[in-house]
Amino acid sequence: MYISRDIVDKIYQSLDIVEVVSDYVNLQKSGKDYKACCPFHNERTPSFFVSPAKGIFKCFGCGKGGDAVTFVMEIEGISYGEALRQLAQKYKIEIPESDNKKPSDDDIQKQNEIDALYIAMQFAKNFYYEQLLYTDEGKAIGLSYLKERGFNEQTIKTFELGYANSDWDTFYRTAIKKGYNPEILEKAGLVQKKETKNDYYDRFRERIMFPIHNISGKVIAFGARALKTHKDTPKYLNSPETALYHKSKVLYGLFQAKKSILQKDECLLVEGYADAISLHQAGISNVVASLGTSLTHEQVRLIRRFTHNVCILYDGDEAGLNAALRGVDILLEEGLSLKVVWLPQNEDPDSFLQKYGTNAMLTYIQENTQDFIKFKTKYLLKNAEDDPFKRGEAIRQVVSSIVKIPDIIQRNVFFKECSLLFGIEEDVLIREGNKILNKELKQKPDQEALSELLQNNPDDFLDQKANAFSSVYHQEYEAMRLLLCYADYPISQDTIFGQYLLKELQGLQFENPIFQEIFEIFARNLNEGRLLSHHDFMKMESREIRQAVIDLITEKYKLSPNWEEKAGIIVEKKDEKLNRVAYEAIMRMKWKAVQRMIKENQKKLEKANNEEEQDHFLQIHIQLKSIEQEIAKALGNVLR
Ligand code: CTP
Ligand code: MN
Repeated sequence: MYISRDIVDKIYQSLDIVEVVSDYVNLQKSGKDYKACCPFHNERTPSFFVSPAKGIFKCFGCGKGGDAVTFVMEIEGISYGEALRQLAQKYKIEIPESDNKKPSDDDIQKQNEIDALYIAMQFAKNFYYEQLLYTDEGKAIGLSYLKERGFNEQTIKTFELGYANSDWDTFYRTAIKKGYNPEILEKAGLVQKKETKNDYYDRFRERIMFPIHNISGKVIAFGARALKTHKDTPKYLNSPETALYHKSKVLYGLFQAKKSILQKDECLLVEGYADAISLHQAGISNVVASLGTSLTHEQVRLIRRFTHNVCILYDGDEAGLNAALRGVDILLEEGLSLKVVWLPQNEDPDSFLQKYGTNAMLTYIQENTQDFIKFKTKYLLKNAEDDPFKRGEAIRQVVSSIVKIPDIIQRNVFFKECSLLFGIEEDVLIREGNKILNKELKQKPDQEALSELLQNNPDDFLDQKANAFSSVYHQEYEAMRLLLCYADYPISQDTIFGQYLLKELQGLQFENPIFQEIFEIFARNLNEGRLLSHHDFMKMESREIRQAVIDLITEKYKLSPNWEEKAGIIVEKKDEKLNRVAYEAIMRMKWKAVQRMIKENQKKLEKANNEEEQDHFLQIHIQLKSIEQEIAKALGNVLR
């Protein structure tokens, strides 16, 4: 699955990092750059930056950085090739047959397994979709069932619904004929091995297929609903956990909902496939489904990329209520504001819509939305009635929700409101809250507490990091940075800066192996007449190189206002000072190198076995010392 160089170049030329990142993260303009809360780690103040000019992103909290391709790789957890393919699709760049042929036996074997799984899932999705729309059984059973439930054709298309027929192995046989590898199909959770023979059969049979998409629209799993309810088969059969599908990290419908969630700045949360689909069809498209399980932090963070406002739409029966009360503190903890709508007993959003229609639904939502904490307070109070013990327990439960809210101002608003509802002084509630917090803090492992500290005070952390810069690393870093940023800058009539650096640095070894590698690649290319820039390095296969280049060219002043002062890094534009800066950087590096050589030579001198050897090392010592002197003179007394 090789993509040719010119296609790769074309992809890089077409893509716009702001567009790419915006598919996943709600970016805010900030000067000439964009910022957001980092999608890769948990934070409350944005330290994730995107620079359209440089074509890169960088999080100053967790350190992740890269270009648009790296971003897609990281956020989707996919390979470099797969990320390129996905971007090609986004920008309508065709990958020619020879680059992207139908999987041949050979290709399937060789492919990166993840890529192969995606391809298999896509094939399965198309297969089930075609079964639904174009086969007799699909039309008679699957399609008529969906029509009966009120799903129209557009909806079937949007959610890519399908049908798995009642045979044992129609899917398996078709896939094999097309050249798919049985082991991959099994790893994708699409087929199962027979116990006795080395043969397989379909996992999904006689079911409506609900593809589960990842955030960029690729199918990673299926939920499959039985048409009739037998005692011995579950209503829903889902894909197992695979390399693509981690149940706890996915929300159903997010791909179809994300634009609308961004626009409305609110996300509706329901329980089932049908609920999400029905609401979407009714034009209420900012909806995702938790698929019947309680929410995880990962899922909440997915939502938080797009909005901070969540409204849960649950069945108002006892089970739904209890599920909501248990599960949703996680939303508060992650800093989301939470509202709740209870539907009438025994109705879920889907059944409500079928019964009463869209307008009734909209009105109902409008009239019945309540703030979650207020709801919880009232509900617990009502149940406690006059029992003082139950009241005490109710208060503790509500307060434990309130202390989960990270924002102090918002937290205090709720303390005030609850004090009114409970008829208890605010101070008492706050004290109760502190008690709960203290207890929780003690239970937290050190590591977690530390990372929380770092997230809350990234500047302090980064300052420390800056101070910890070793001087060797610092010199090398500076030389590398200059090389990447100013290689094409003319320093005299017939020399560009890159050539100058190359000549000066030739023969010197970088201690940092990545820098050494970058330098060698740069040198090799320049010797062949090609001047590489940081853009070229960012296209390279090696993740380490790309990461190092990103770190090197990211403007350091964003770390904290006086960062570069502390680290001694001079952030200068292309101006007449460049010569001096470069000269110094090189001299510093050389000086460090000479020192290292002197030390090594001294060791050899000490171990010398005879006079001849001693003499030899002594000569070297004298030479090195004189070089050291020269460099020191050249630099004046800058060096210590
Ligand atoms: N669920 C599941 N496995 C089951 C039952 C439920 O995975 N055996 C998940 C499904 O994601 C389902 C959700 O829990 O959508 C809610 O379950 P339920 O309310 O029973 O189903 P509905 O979504 O209402 O499905 P339908 O309307 O088709 O009956
Ligand atoms: Mn339902």
